Amino acid sequence: MQARQTLQPRRSVVLAESDSLEERLGVHPHRLGHVIDVLAPAEAVDAAPELAEVFVSAFGAPGYDEDRADAERFATEQLPVHAERDDFKLVAARSDGRIVGFAYGFTGQRGQWWPDRVAAVVPAELAEEWIGGHFEVVELAVAVGAQRQGLGTALMDALMTGLPHRKALLSTYVDDRPAPRLYQRMGWQLLVPDLGWGSALYGLDRTMPAAAGPGRVGA
Ligand SMILES: CC(C)(COP(=O)(O)OP(=O)(O)OC[C@H]1O[C@@H](n2cnc3c(N)ncnc32)[C@H](O)[C@@H]1OP(=O)(O)O)[C@@H](O)C(=O)NCCC(=O)NCCS
Repeated sequence: MQARQTLQPRRSVVLAESDSLEERLGVHPHRLGHVIDVLAPAEAVDAAPELAEVFVSAFGAPGYDEDRADAERFATEQLPVHAERDDFKLVAARSDGRIVGFAYGFTGQRGQWWPDRVAAVVPAELAEEWIGGHFEVVELAVAVGAQRQGLGTALMDALMTGLPHRKALLSTYVDDRPAPRLYQRMGWQLLVPDLGWGSALYGLDRTMPAAAGPGRVGA
């Protein structure tokens, strides 16, 4: 078990056209002026109402099926519980001071609901290799009006930078849409196309050159 993340000083990155990240990931330069902050767990919980607005915009858009009640549950139940987990990290993108996108995760362990649910349906060798001690990406969302400017990519980049984890996991939509395309572009590999409940499982082996994202373990 890794040590619980202590409150860390806020780190900001002002995205600029000259970012090497821009060149490395080939993302578009229209996100000038956006700022990405790493929020400490308590700051993330304080920001829950603002994050809920982003949640409902992103997951309540046509083609997605979450509503305001889901956003409320996210803000009042899910996030406070997850903020207590080991190595919780939330990154928020701001435009004119307002949060327009966020991503977060923590260290996933056996005995938690999602890792156990996944371990129960994937081949034993895959579970053995990937599940437990991984960094679990739980949410990524960008408000509709701020999408397609490279923010989702920049948020994932900021989330993964500096993590010590060798493996990372997430689940996303099985069909072809922005989220799975973004993960694939960033080096995530499809581990299980459908877990049985309409979600695909993706993994990032951060020890491999193919996962040459920022802060790659062993890089
Ligand atoms: C997935 C999501 C977070 C991506 O956010 P985003 O800020 O739009 O991400 P990016 O801008 O980095 O990339 C998205 C697309 O915009 C394109 N793009 C980026 N900048 C662009 C620009 N300036 N002009 C035109 N297109 C651009 C990217 O190439 C990418 O294209 P693709 O979908 O055809 O592959 C967002 O679509 C979202 O919130 N979706 C709903 C919630 C969701 O699915 N969350 C993930 C759950 S697992």
